[in-house]
Amino acid sequence: PEDVLMEMRKRGGLEAAEVVESGMDVGLGTGSTTAWAIAAIGWKLDDGELENVRGVATSLQSHDLARELGIPLTDVDEFDSLDVAIDGADQWDPDHPHVVKGGGASHAREKLIDSMADRLVIATDEQKTATPLSHPVPLSVLPESRNVAQEWVREQGGEPSLRYAEAKDGPLFTANGNLVVDCDFGEMDDVEGRATDLARIPGAQEHGLFVGMVDDVIYGTDDGVDSVSF
Ligand code: A5P
Repeated sequence: PEDVLMEMRKRGGLEAAEVVESGMDVGLGTGSTTAWAIAAIGWKLDDGELENVRGVATSLQSHDLARELGIPLTDVDEFDSLDVAIDGADQWDPDHPHVVKGGGASHAREKLIDSMADRLVIATDEQKTATPLSHPVPLSVLPESRNVAQEWVREQGGEPSLRYAEAKDGPLFTANGNLVVDCDFGEMDDVEGRATDLARIPGAQEHGLFVGMVDDVIYGTDDGVDSVSF
């Protein structure tokens, strides 16, 4: 049930915030799990348990949440590297340091910020595991390349679908004005190869495979929280 899942995510998110230390520059991820990590960082700053933490948000949503909580925010341009990034995942593999991201269509900015971090911590729940990964991979594309891009995905053996906005009778645009094609390849035995092929698609801006990037996964379970390190 939904409330059990939400409880798992809350546990994963709160525990992930424990990796943050005073003085750190922190990438703030997107989604309902990382929202708990952002909240915990805000509370710790408030009660003095943490000091001099600066956040860089991976999306508008996480920016606004962090701002509401009083976390000092700066822009990605201010940094060459970050101490840590805490981000969510749409699917993760307990045996490999890869995740599928982009359920919130923020994967391009997420990949940029997560790749700048010395340590990428994925905050998630135990229900999102799969070996190999099989979740449809979001691919953001230039609007005018949507048909060509979908044809390439089919030729690569995938089933593409243009993502539509929920509350609106039209396609979903990313914060950078791109469209999102969700590419279903079923089980992906060769994640590296899949990532390379997706990146070659004309008009492709960024895909949601984060290959070899994950350092730790902290995930909520039925009755607690657990972690895997790579
Ligand atoms: C955003 O684009 C995704 O990569 C999110 O990180 C992902 O959807 C996780 O969200 P939940 O924590 O709500 O599952």
